[in-house]
Amino acid sequence: MFKNALDVIPGGVNSPVRSFNAVDSSPIYIKRGKGAYLYDEDKNKYIDYINSFGPLIFGHSKKEISNAAIKAMDKGTTFGACHKNEIKLAELIKEKMPSMEMTRLTSSGTEATMSAIRLARAYTKKDKIIKFEGCYHGHVDHLLVKAGSGLTTFGSPSSPGVPRDFTKHTLIAEFNNLTQVEKLFKKNKNKIAAIILEPVPANMGVILPKSGFLKKILDLAHCNDSLVIFDEVISGFRLSIGGAQEYYNLKPDITCIGKIIGGGFPIGAFGGKKEIMSILSPSGPVYQAGTLSGNPIAVAAGIKTIELLEKNNLTLYTKLEKRALNIKTEIDKLNLESITINQIGSLLTFFITKNKSVVSYKDVLKCDTKIYGALFKKLLLTGIMVPPSQFEAMFISDSHSKNDIIETIESFKKGIKTLGLK
Ligand SMILES: Cc1ncc(COP(=O)(O)O)c(C=O)c1O
Repeated sequence: MFKNALDVIPGGVNSPVRSFNAVDSSPIYIKRGKGAYLYDEDKNKYIDYINSFGPLIFGHSKKEISNAAIKAMDKGTTFGACHKNEIKLAELIKEKMPSMEMTRLTSSGTEATMSAIRLARAYTKKDKIIKFEGCYHGHVDHLLVKAGSGLTTFGSPSSPGVPRDFTKHTLIAEFNNLTQVEKLFKKNKNKIAAIILEPVPANMGVILPKSGFLKKILDLAHCNDSLVIFDEVISGFRLSIGGAQEYYNLKPDITCIGKIIGGGFPIGAFGGKKEIMSILSPSGPVYQAGTLSGNPIAVAAGIKTIELLEKNNLTLYTKLEKRALNIKTEIDKLNLESITINQIGSLLTFFITKNKSVVSYKDVLKCDTKIYGALFKKLLLTGIMVPPSQFEAMFISDSHSKNDIIETIESFKKGIKTLGLK
């Protein structure tokens, strides 16, 4: 299949990480997913910790969510016109994330962040933005930026095809480094429209914000008449029902979400204060649109997902955290010099590094990706599917049973032993 794919799909895949290149392997082909498990075309079964990179907080093919989507589909697949459920979804989002007084739906997280930045620039009438190294906000041109020489200089494009002119307004700082952000504000007085960040980065592996870091980012930005955009495409409805902003009790100006709010269907959304959101077209001049935005199937699946989260709110997040912590604790007990696990809620990453404190992209870059790949392959052979890259998060879902977790820990231990990791 991969050979055939290579002939008609660039690199054989529709999103690079699926190629398994980062673990020196080639893709497997999924036939179906049910609960905590994926089944491939070769009849192998895996306990899945990728969970489509975040949307599936209830695991694969959750009956209630599929049924909601099927019911919606029976009434039409897309209207290109208003429908009742988009209001319901926006109201539910506002209820759970009160900072999102108004919400605009998109079809992907990338569109949400792209539009949020445009909105912030228009609202503040400033051009520059600050982005953190290692945070991923989708494949928007001016967000595909790596640090230039010396972290506090302008970023440079991290992909061919992105003109330098497109990234010259993107300033880069190191996550968890407030001094760098302060310096950027000093150097670029009255020029910075917004800081965009994943409040809990999960795209360089999971990185935890240092105590007080997020609050200080908000204070710094507001002191400088800049906005803060929380990219909660992963953390939204995952860290808690109200996302990282509820978890840390903070109120960003604009929030981007996606993944979970579509229940496994393509979706994204950005929202924030009424005053800011109102300058979007058609109530204001900032253009933003989408043929499939507010798609009725994705919206129905999203509503059902949030309703289920709400129904189980008191127990679900504690259970997810317990499962994730169980993996971390059992591996930590081995006292290995070569593995450090970062975990928060249902997100975790095992970093192959001797560094016991992984708090920035610089730390992540020191990881041994070869050994990560070797361990990935060992786990895969025993039916455990962890992310095919050191730079991604493992996602625990409601479907992972106690036994799944025990089996996973055992496989980890075996893999670690076979590879002779100390
Ligand atoms: C934090 C974050 N923001 C934005 C995106 C982009 O979302 P999408 O892949 O739906 O375009 C992602 C995707 O993984 C993400 O993790």
